[in-house]
Amino acid sequence: NNKPTALIMIFGATGDLAKRKLFPSIYRLFQKEKINKFAVVGVARRSLTNEEFQSSVKDSILTFGHAEEKVDEFISHFQYHSHDVSSSESYLQLKGIAEELDGQYQLEGNRIFYLAMAPEFFGTIAEQIKAQGLTESKGYKRLVIEKPFGHSFETAQKLNEQIRTAFAEDEIYRIDHYLGKEMVQNIEVIRFSNALFEPLWNNRYISNIQVTSSETLGVEERGRYYETSGALRDMVQNHLLQMVALLAMEPPIALTTEEIRSEKVRALRSLRPMKVDEVDKYFIRGQYGEGTVDEKTLPGYRNEHNVNPDSNTETYVAGKLLIDNFRWAGVPFYIRTGKRMDVKSTNIVVQFKDIPMNLYYKTEETLNPNLLVINIQPDEGITLYLNVKKSGTTSNTKPMKLTVSNKGIEHINSPEAYEKLLFDSMRGDATNFTHWDEVALSWKFVDTISNAWEHTKEESFPNYAAGSTGPLASDELLADDGHIWWQIK
Ligand code: BG6
Repeated sequence: NNKPTALIMIFGATGDLAKRKLFPSIYRLFQKEKINKFAVVGVARRSLTNEEFQSSVKDSILTFGHAEEKVDEFISHFQYHSHDVSSSESYLQLKGIAEELDGQYQLEGNRIFYLAMAPEFFGTIAEQIKAQGLTESKGYKRLVIEKPFGHSFETAQKLNEQIRTAFAEDEIYRIDHYLGKEMVQNIEVIRFSNALFEPLWNNRYISNIQVTSSETLGVEERGRYYETSGALRDMVQNHLLQMVALLAMEPPIALTTEEIRSEKVRALRSLRPMKVDEVDKYFIRGQYGEGTVDEKTLPGYRNEHNVNPDSNTETYVAGKLLIDNFRWAGVPFYIRTGKRMDVKSTNIVVQFKDIPMNLYYKTEETLNPNLLVINIQPDEGITLYLNVKKSGTTSNTKPMKLTVSNKGIEHINSPEAYEKLLFDSMRGDATNFTHWDEVALSWKFVDTISNAWEHTKEESFPNYAAGSTGPLASDELLADDGHIWWQIK
């Protein structure tokens, strides 16, 4: 039996993430028989009986997980512990539960501590876990930790020091759920397994690369958190910079966690740093105002729940990154992300340079550049934009799309990011988690931007309507370089 075994302690088990993502993901691993020896302790403040907790797990997998079979057997693996984060006694009780379940399910002392709750407690919990001996079992112990990992380089470093008192770097699994997405994992495969792309993957043949993550949802019920974060910390520091690192890194010498990470770190180290007074040249921010979608009026950000009516928080960011190394000198990487946009779409567009001479220039059609589009969501796949002959004419061209869609190949939707990441954490594969060095570098880069923005009120806010394509300034950022955002729908 090579299946991983684990006792998973979920701190924040009554929260949204646990319900929407974690329980359904564990269920799918169980249903697919990827795990059978496991137990879960739900840890949260609320007082609940085991039965109440199990029934909330059942609700969650029925609502979000398309559960069919063995549901009762599945939830029997779950127990609940009503927890007081600052009481040592409470950790000792948890330790008792852990030891009991360990015996009952033969978990070999393997433990995952999953922190999926308010980040202000991350440090205390890690320290208490260690102090009360919860990490003293004979198997592995791993800390899986959700974002936000700090609020700036300084606070991230402080948090890191706290968790490092209890866990070694290789026992810490910092979640960036984008790294669990099928097509984000595919970036490396597309690059490093195709003779067609890797030789062209540099400043001789690539004009620019565009990374977009747009959402149609607004800030929903997360106003309180979002006011302290904004799109920059919420999306750019983690998800967008991680995608940039995967696109820009050198080929690793082997597909090991260490080799891949060290190449990603080198890519992040090559990001051209900005001075605070240069930020406006490279980054622009937006905030949504009221807008109409399908004849329905959507409120502006400043009117959302728990948001300051005078808020200076950005809900949109677009930026231009330069990577100062031999491969990328002179190739801009444009990134953008926003809430309440016209479409939900995450994609990467690699725009190739124009060919040296356009023989078809005099025809009515102008040549389109070749684009490689990596569709991350909602559709998964790749599209290559080519030019071909327009039939019936002698030398007219027309654009053509070669599309590969994951749905078409696999006939099923690919596994959820969380399902893969949870399984990786049980198997001890940290490749798709972020190392401290990556976190540190991306915070340092982002801190310059937040320093510039926090000290100047953006008078143009709100500067895009809910349901639109974002602020005008975002187009101007590319127009200055003679480029446009490719709209992939
Ligand atoms: C999260 C952010 O990390 O990513 C959210 O906190 C955002 O604000 C979400 O909505 C987007 O994730 P996805 O998988 O829907 O692109």
